[in-house]
Amino acid sequence: MKRNSYTIIGIVVSILIAVLLVGCNQYSKKSSEAVSYYYTEQYRPQFHFTPEANWMNDPNGMVYYEGEYHLFYQYYPDSTVWGPMHWGHAISKDLVHWEHMPVAIYPDSLGWIFSGSAVADLKNTSGLGTAENPPLVAIYTYHNVMLEKSGSKTPQSQALAFSTDKGRTWTKYANNPVLESPGIPDFRDPKVFWHNETGKWVMILAVQDRVHLYSSPNLISWKFESEFGKGIGAHGGVWECPDLFPLKVEGSDVSKWVMLVNINPGGPNGGSANQYFTGEFDGKKFTPDETNEKWVDWGRDNYAGVTWSNVPDTDGRRLFIGWMSNWQYANVVPTTVWRSATTIPRELSLISQNNSYLLVSKPVRELEVLRGGTTPVYHATQNISGEKEMALDSITLSQSELIFDFDLENGKVDSLGIVLENNLQEKLVIGYSISQKQFFVDRRAAGLSTFSKEFAGISKASYTAGGHLQLRIFVDAASTELFVDGGKLVMTDIAFPTENFTKLKVFSTGGDLLLEKAEFHGLKRIW
Ligand code: FRU
Repeated sequence: MKRNSYTIIGIVVSILIAVLLVGCNQYSKKSSEAVSYYYTEQYRPQFHFTPEANWMNDPNGMVYYEGEYHLFYQYYPDSTVWGPMHWGHAISKDLVHWEHMPVAIYPDSLGWIFSGSAVADLKNTSGLGTAENPPLVAIYTYHNVMLEKSGSKTPQSQALAFSTDKGRTWTKYANNPVLESPGIPDFRDPKVFWHNETGKWVMILAVQDRVHLYSSPNLISWKFESEFGKGIGAHGGVWECPDLFPLKVEGSDVSKWVMLVNINPGGPNGGSANQYFTGEFDGKKFTPDETNEKWVDWGRDNYAGVTWSNVPDTDGRRLFIGWMSNWQYANVVPTTVWRSATTIPRELSLISQNNSYLLVSKPVRELEVLRGGTTPVYHATQNISGEKEMALDSITLSQSELIFDFDLENGKVDSLGIVLENNLQEKLVIGYSISQKQFFVDRRAAGLSTFSKEFAGISKASYTAGGHLQLRIFVDAASTELFVDGGKLVMTDIAFPTENFTKLKVFSTGGDLLLEKAEFHGLKRIW
């Protein structure tokens, strides 16, 4: 009798366990299905940062702290077009894989939260943390729409928020704003850094068509120091999102200050772009080496880019990321759930060339972890005249890194280039004309473009190639980023092919092109 009841209990328990196991299994199946659809919408970048949903523009507040790279960004969580700005937030340990965090800073009665920067206040100069637990401090612009609509000349002011839990939660400073406009409506995008020589914080701020420099002992009280920009550089639009930092000139002991100034419109190929100046900075005043315009990136889609603060000296890199779009069409690009991506992170360096300093951008080395372990690397030496399709083996072209080394010394051609094409004959062409000394990215026939009359077109950039030319191209679902000769010229352009690009061609005109080496890497997705 007893034994029987044990048997019955045993059977019931086994059935229960079986039911539970099947249930769990189904649950895990569902969740893994959900995972496999995650970030797979048409045009969803696979190795660039995008928010899960809704509108993003400028990267903001990039700061490295205790093993984590913070990326904040202009974010409107309620729509896929620009609107009341918040700071969205993501964290990465390697600059490649990102973890989404809750919205960090919300708009309030003082205004929307426009662009700005973040610093690690390691000496607790602000008093917003403690000596033992110093704060991260975000310095951002309030944009007050009510004041703007009333015709006020002071709708923008600078304010602080701080975090004492490694950026997880943010508290606004009680006496915001900390810097009010002297009566100029465009007064925004503070980038703050610690200036060792004077022992002060310095803020560079975009003020209409120039920048203003301020200093502060504590991030709270700010003193005007100087103005820069009148009649210098490009002035086709308003100046926005500046940055200022020292960089060593490669191969020398010389250190120069580099100023980035984004401008919209007025870029070299239309709309938004990022210009730079090199010079001296004494903590108060910036003195440029040259007054002509120079561009960080000649493509149409690298805007509002600035650099990370607090990267340790042991690393020593100046790390940059930009917004991969252009105000000419950012609000209408044909993506559905979200809008806009960042560029890949880049390392900036400075070289001396032809009595001038050239800003060089390289993809950060961390990106190499994305190279597919099983993907064959294709090496070749061949002559190309006309057009030649390259074997891609198992590489997915729309998620790849392509490296081409050309010998221009021994092969004599008029022009050369790379074509990304799909079965609908849509194509994006990246080329170089030797006679015109000009690079170009032609997206006129690269897919959807009717969403904006400004979109289709050719970006061009002057460049003088030597005997050897290297093109390194990162291709994602809706973008190409071209780095020429180790980053001496950069062109970032988005594109929306109706189907993914699947064919890769190399072409030359006017002779035999000597392709010394081609290396193609499929890239793993980061999501
Ligand atoms: C640049 C910019 C900034 C401003 C922000 C608003 O793209 O216009 O000047 O702070 O975007 O979202």
